[in-house]
Amino acid sequence: MADKALRRKAKVAIFISGTGTNMAALLYASLLDASPYEIVLVASNREDAAGLEIASAEGVPTFVHSHKGHSRAEHDAAMEKALVSAETEYLVLAGYMRILSDDFVRRWEGRILNIHPSLLPKYKGLDTFARAIAAGDSHAGASVHIVTPELDAGEVLAQARVAVRSGETPETLADRVKYAEHQLYPRAVADYVSRSYDAGYLYDRVSEMALALPESHSRDSHGLPAFRVGTEKSGKFFAHFSENHHGSEHIAVLVKTGGIDELLNLVEAHPETYFKPAYYGASGWVGLILNRPGVDWDHVADWLERSWRSVAPARLTKLRDAADMF
Ligand code: GRF
Repeated sequence: MADKALRRKAKVAIFISGTGTNMAALLYASLLDASPYEIVLVASNREDAAGLEIASAEGVPTFVHSHKGHSRAEHDAAMEKALVSAETEYLVLAGYMRILSDDFVRRWEGRILNIHPSLLPKYKGLDTFARAIAAGDSHAGASVHIVTPELDAGEVLAQARVAVRSGETPETLADRVKYAEHQLYPRAVADYVSRSYDAGYLYDRVSEMALALPESHSRDSHGLPAFRVGTEKSGKFFAHFSENHHGSEHIAVLVKTGGIDELLNLVEAHPETYFKPAYYGASGWVGLILNRPGVDWDHVADWLERSWRSVAPARLTKLRDAADMF
């Protein structure tokens, strides 16, 4: 596995609208030596967001753009510009009281996290504490989730549970959940940004997708974990998992292109996504880079399927075609 100590810190921006206590928790956690992320920007739609001052005092660049008098798209565009100039890799929402436009969310897909004060999928939206108390729940809590266009509906990454005491009011409960949030959020962000570079995690994802294809199995090839389709005896390789192979800085999955011309075109057009791997490149295998923020896993799945199809026996691809029609 790659040496974590040598890895640079992921660049995280935080959007806030209010007091920013979660922002402060994230910021102070980021200043600890072992933090895998640094805060490159704190931005707000409100000039009076108290967290802005805390960030400035710690030397973190801040940005304010009021949403008043602007369309959602205009406002998001101004915030996005600030993100891009800070070279943001991940955006963390911490009490940001604006809904981001679908286009914005899609552009940053897989790279925006939010914290929501309930044990999702319970109590999306507002008044979560009052609703938990009214329902007689034994526990309330907070969830860190990936932001998708649908509100509070993205994959939940981590949760903290907080017992509901007798006589609790929404305010008393909210106060305690905040303590839990301040423990939870920095840990969840650290884990999330680290996993994009973690060969074990990346291998597990590739493996799950590759083995979901019909009649595929794993077998090492020249020291690389790889995936084949067909019988144990006559099967053919359709993917190789490559971790820093022959000095490459990439963790990647190697898949089959139509040939060297397609490979070179891909590498030239999208050098952040593709590279020509040592040895394998000569026979048309392209490296799809996985150790970077915002990998589009549907795209990886499409490549695995295409590569699988190029070597799978016709009886399997025909079945697959038939299944795709439904
Ligand atoms: C938190 O309760 C969080 O769950 C919600 O907004 C609040 C932000 O509080 N999304 P703070 O500004 O971090 O204190």
